[in-house]
Amino acid sequence: MANLKRRQVLAALAAGAAAIPALGLQAAQRPSMPVPPAGQSSSALAKNEDFWREVATYYDRTEGIVNLEHGYWGKMAKPVQQVYLDATRMVNAQNSYYGRKGYSADAKRSVQRIAQALGAHEDEIVLTRNASEAIHNLIRQYQGLSKGDAVLYADVDYPQFKTTMHWLEESRGVQARLINLPSRATQQDILDLYRQAFDANPNLKLILLTHVSNQHGLVIPVAAISAEARQRGIDVICDSAQSWGLLDYKIGDLGVDWAGFNLHKWIGSPVGIGVLYMRRGTLQKIAPYPGDTDPDHSKAAARIHTGTANFASVLAIPAALDFHASIGGTNKEARLRYLRRLWTDEAEKMPHIEVLGGSDEASRTGMGAFRLAGKSSAGEAKDLQQRLETEFGIFTVVRKGLASGHCVRITPQVFSSAKEIRTLTAAMEQLHTTPEMPP
Ligand SMILES: Cc1ncc(COP(=O)(O)O)c(C=O)c1O
Repeated sequence: MANLKRRQVLAALAAGAAAIPALGLQAAQRPSMPVPPAGQSSSALAKNEDFWREVATYYDRTEGIVNLEHGYWGKMAKPVQQVYLDATRMVNAQNSYYGRKGYSADAKRSVQRIAQALGAHEDEIVLTRNASEAIHNLIRQYQGLSKGDAVLYADVDYPQFKTTMHWLEESRGVQARLINLPSRATQQDILDLYRQAFDANPNLKLILLTHVSNQHGLVIPVAAISAEARQRGIDVICDSAQSWGLLDYKIGDLGVDWAGFNLHKWIGSPVGIGVLYMRRGTLQKIAPYPGDTDPDHSKAAARIHTGTANFASVLAIPAALDFHASIGGTNKEARLRYLRRLWTDEAEKMPHIEVLGGSDEASRTGMGAFRLAGKSSAGEAKDLQQRLETEFGIFTVVRKGLASGHCVRITPQVFSSAKEIRTLTAAMEQLHTTPEMPP
């Protein structure tokens, strides 16, 4: 009987929107999902404030500030939050009885859903706590290096991964090469720069590629660079932590063997869900987690040893994917790009503002960044972030990894409004004045 109840709970959780008496949810409270109006193209829908206002009702609001810092992690929509809270209660009540008897089948179901959404095979997907766990393990457990080889990373990469790539120098006796990308670039510019770096470093064995930079939302042409790398016998680790859900794509579009993803950014899962992707037939070069074994090179899961993690986050994955699908990946990407264009189109007309990142739309996302022209120091970027927050009530974040200097990142979400973006552009207009000093 207890087992039957548990199965009912889990079936409802897997369905994405539990509404069963065992969890105390009334049918009347059953959360629904947003339904885009029929027949509207993604680009037309991107400008449909009525639809996005309705989408915003599915999220709890940040109070007290216009929050344009959504690159850190994604907010769960209310239906996802409900599933997560129900799962937390169920797991807490059932404890080890559930953990030992039911969890692995449910985790497998979540993995299947991720594989389906990414267009991967189930055995190519391993759950992690975040993208950092996936990418760090890939870099540390990579076996293809000998003394005298070189590895390559870029200024636009995630700061902690740059240090791990650099660490390979002392731990493996290789040369760590850094490529600096210009503050504005097209897909072609970026590909050309990587080709030049490959030509200049014939001993390259491994590169880190960041699909979407956490600094300024720049899109790296991963598929084109990986194809070039493959021809030259260079392996690629792809950091897709920031890209899945911000951009709409399948794993095959990236053309990479190994990647790390987050679901807790743009897919809207609870915090604590990342993914390691390893293409079938490519496991040989990434050693199992220290002490684990995989003699046939067939178990991607042997590359990660997470230990006890948040069961409820894993159980809420299908609900997050369902909610994401209800908006539609293409619609989400189009809306986020539209919101970014609303401020970058204005900012590019302002001589006192320098917009950073892609200079063609293919190199851009919903995430962007700017600085005051000529003001790229840490202190200047910090002052800018502070002014936006205290003078104009807009929350943003300083990013400090680019070779061109520090900047402030702007990241709206699907629940951000065009009006909020206009608050930002109005503030930007005022930024050419120096702040009034208190008497
Ligand atoms: C490009 C990129 N890589 C990696 C990460 C690390 O993600 P997490 O902290 O979820 O592991 C982030 C987080 O912001 C990121 O933007």
